[in-house]
Amino acid sequence: MSTNLTIVNRASVLAILATICAPPLIASAQTVAPTSAPTTLALMPVPSSLALRTGSLTIDSTFRVAVVRHTDARMQRAIARMIPRLEVRTGIPLSHVVSKDSAGATLIIDCNSAGEAVQGYDEDESYSIESGASSITLHAATTVGVIRGLETVLQLVDADSARYFIPAVSVNDTPRFRWRGLLVDVSRHFEPVSAIERTLDGMSAVKLNVLHWHLSDDQGIRVESKRYPKLQKLASDSMYYTRSQIREVVTYARDRGIRVVPEFDMPGHSNAWFAAYPQYASAAGPYSVGDGYIGFKGTFDPTRESVYRFIDGFIGEMSKLFPDAYWHIGGDEVDATEWNANPRIQKYMRAHKLADNAALQAYFNQRMSRILTKHHKHMIGWDEILHPGLPTTTVIQSWRGTQYLAQAAQKGFSGILSAPYYLDAMRSSEYLYGADPLLGDSALTAAETARVLGGEATMWAELVQHGTIDSRIWPRLAAVAERFWSPRNVTDVGDMYRRLGVESVRLEQLGLGQETHTSRFLRRMVNGPDIGPLAELLQFVESANLGQRMGRERVRQATPLVRMADAARPDPPGRWRIMQLVQAVGSSSTMNVAAHDTLQRWFAEWRDLAPRVHAIANRSPLAQSAIPAADALARVSAIGLEALEARRSGIPLAKSWTDSAMVTLKAADQPQGVLHLVVVPAVRQLLVQ
Ligand code: ACM
Repeated sequence: MSTNLTIVNRASVLAILATICAPPLIASAQTVAPTSAPTTLALMPVPSSLALRTGSLTIDSTFRVAVVRHTDARMQRAIARMIPRLEVRTGIPLSHVVSKDSAGATLIIDCNSAGEAVQGYDEDESYSIESGASSITLHAATTVGVIRGLETVLQLVDADSARYFIPAVSVNDTPRFRWRGLLVDVSRHFEPVSAIERTLDGMSAVKLNVLHWHLSDDQGIRVESKRYPKLQKLASDSMYYTRSQIREVVTYARDRGIRVVPEFDMPGHSNAWFAAYPQYASAAGPYSVGDGYIGFKGTFDPTRESVYRFIDGFIGEMSKLFPDAYWHIGGDEVDATEWNANPRIQKYMRAHKLADNAALQAYFNQRMSRILTKHHKHMIGWDEILHPGLPTTTVIQSWRGTQYLAQAAQKGFSGILSAPYYLDAMRSSEYLYGADPLLGDSALTAAETARVLGGEATMWAELVQHGTIDSRIWPRLAAVAERFWSPRNVTDVGDMYRRLGVESVRLEQLGLGQETHTSRFLRRMVNGPDIGPLAELLQFVESANLGQRMGRERVRQATPLVRMADAARPDPPGRWRIMQLVQAVGSSSTMNVAAHDTLQRWFAEWRDLAPRVHAIANRSPLAQSAIPAADALARVSAIGLEALEARRSGIPLAKSWTDSAMVTLKAADQPQGVLHLVVVPAVRQLLVQ
């Protein structure tokens, strides 16, 4: 068995998914009412129905909010957050007084009820907006619908040279999927509350509704327990959330219409528990909190009653802090080394007719399920837990492939999809956007399809710290959020990228840092403002993915993540832009001169970049890792320049030259150290078109 099983498995699963989940053909967003009026509307996610009308509402200092019918403190707080955001966007001081009088009000909020006391996945999140020249009315069945609608109102704000305005529109919006989440792993690297809260702000802006908080793994248990205080003393490296911080995050999330589903991964990925309580492990130990990411075998002993008493006590305590109806038991990648080596466990399995380790894990899960029922929780777990004998209220989270989601649905379980949405795999927004939770599962009946609740992107944190987390999550998560919310036929990738650029800037206004990330990191790296060559390089270069990077660098938890690969952003803007230019450029008789000239300038820049990157790396050891990528980009640029000239002149390229160029491009598409060029497919297309 591989020492770094988790990483290898994730990487290989994602490689398979690359083929299964290739983006579907682009279709136009038919739900958006066609309009001949040019519009700069940049709603993300696209609403389920939108009609643009003539006219607009000018935002000026008379802007005033009124709430008619139901209101509550959560709604008042949502409005109190919205008004300052509108002020920052427009530069106009606005009234913060919210009245009950709709006469003369600009934004009228008309809501039926507070919604569920504990938000569940059936919460009504729908809303509608009617805006005209003098007012906007936001209707919603629940406060969560109001929260969703207020984000749309903010996204509708547009400007011309004279004023800020909201175009006259009619929006009727409801999510396609009920479970739209993000997993944040805080075990491999701890994230401070501030990072979690700004992530929640971003999630709410794009209408996501579940924070899946991965609170335990081999590298640490991240909660304070009164009942089992050794957890925070011995199993957390002093980095854990206090009980009041947990309550704060849960409240913060609820205020934004987001559920918090805690995950405590069992029976595998459990080394850290045993640093505090070794008596519940399947081997004698000794155990310590994981440092690094390889070789942890600690696994709960499913044959001991004391283990279930411990877990019962833990869940009993924690379930009071986490009101959500669901509790994630993990259940993935159980390393059975300790089970196989323990004669007492082997004897127990024979005595209880548990044929193999899968049966032993199924037994453990059944016991977990009973404990959760006692504490009024439903179970959710990774797809390894799918086996008979669990209540069908159990939700299966498919990470090893879409087929597990289909299997779960066929067996009567609800499920959510994560496999294509692993953010650490460094897939482009285009790829993430193209992966539909229902793609390829057309064999499902209507009832089975209804069991697909949605999906979650995952932010595993082996190579993520609080300084890099925004750049890893955003803006790609906004593309995933649209996939989960918008109608299935909203698949125009070009329009997605247009809106993603706008949304990313809006997200920065909420305090996220992905757009300024690279320059911030590079300035520190070169100890000064002269970041030009490195910044140019990172327009076209991203970090190698988790598996590739782990295979090339020795990274431990204590390793500061401040290197070139950390400064780089996944799916940098150059990838999509160059692909568009290549698709537009045409050939000698049809040449698009502007596209040709831009490409030519870029290729020349890439060629000239290499010596400049070398010069900077001579003054910065951390920048040394840019050299292989800069050199590879120069090789790609030489090919690009020749291919472009062939296009222009109409003189075909010699086959021998093309063959050799293809070999060079293939090599350039491999990781260059810990970096990866994102432009190779576009240059390859220039050769074959
Ligand atoms: C997982 O990625 N092991 C759920």
